[in-house]
Amino acid sequence: MSRIRVDDLQKGGTPAGPLAAVTAYDYAFARLADRAGADLLLVGDSLGMVVQGEETTLPVTLDHMVYHTRCVNRGRERALVVADLPFRAYKAGPAQALDSAARLMAEGGAEMVKLEGGGPMAGTVAFLNQRDIPVMGHLGLTPQSIHQLGGYRVQGRDADAATQMVEEALDLERAGARALVLEAVPRTLAARVSETVAIPVIGIGAGPDCDGQVLVLHDVLGLDERVQPRFARRYMDGAGQITEALGAFCRDVRAGTFPDAEHSFD
Ligand code: KIV
Repeated sequence: MSRIRVDDLQKGGTPAGPLAAVTAYDYAFARLADRAGADLLLVGDSLGMVVQGEETTLPVTLDHMVYHTRCVNRGRERALVVADLPFRAYKAGPAQALDSAARLMAEGGAEMVKLEGGGPMAGTVAFLNQRDIPVMGHLGLTPQSIHQLGGYRVQGRDADAATQMVEEALDLERAGARALVLEAVPRTLAARVSETVAIPVIGIGAGPDCDGQVLVLHDVLGLDERVQPRFARRYMDGAGQITEALGAFCRDVRAGTFPDAEHSFD
């Protein structure tokens, strides 16, 4: 089982097919996702919402990201670990982005960082790339821009917006981005972006014509029964099963059936 490296992120995905990526935020789930065969573990700033219970990803700090990246890094053996640069940690300019990315790599153990945005971020991508920091871009629905975008909705629906997204993907590629996440865009546009750039495109709500797919762990496992993006497939009823298991534990304690002899020391 050889470790996936940044250079293994290729157009067309992996020899086994499109690249399979999932978000991870801690040691236990990173280990399980790695053992399950995920090629890439994304320590997404979605942790603000799914782990911390915030309404948006904006409150997530660089310290949070470093901490969670370190936990994920300890749990993986094979997968590539990519960490998000959080909202307040790179938008001030390339120098700030370099400091933040260096912490995610040196303290967290990330092998690549992801940042959101197109053309205006190209300078920052180039700056990081020239300083040996592999960068993944993120276009389409960029959750850090939620207040500019006016909501979590599909992006690039009209012709001008679609053309602009293709241009921005090219800008990021020219700046040295090694891969690109496309979130919540029509599948035809995702296919167009994928055909246009030579770097792998990893879709989330972007249809099947990408080089890989990423989903948020909590959506895959159904850990929050209240939220289910239309593009995410739930592979288990995590919320239901976990609540049931914890309920059984509480009932056993109250009934005095736990701990029993088997779980007690003489
Ligand atoms: O933060 C995150 O989890 C992400 C994915 C949704 C791509 O950026």
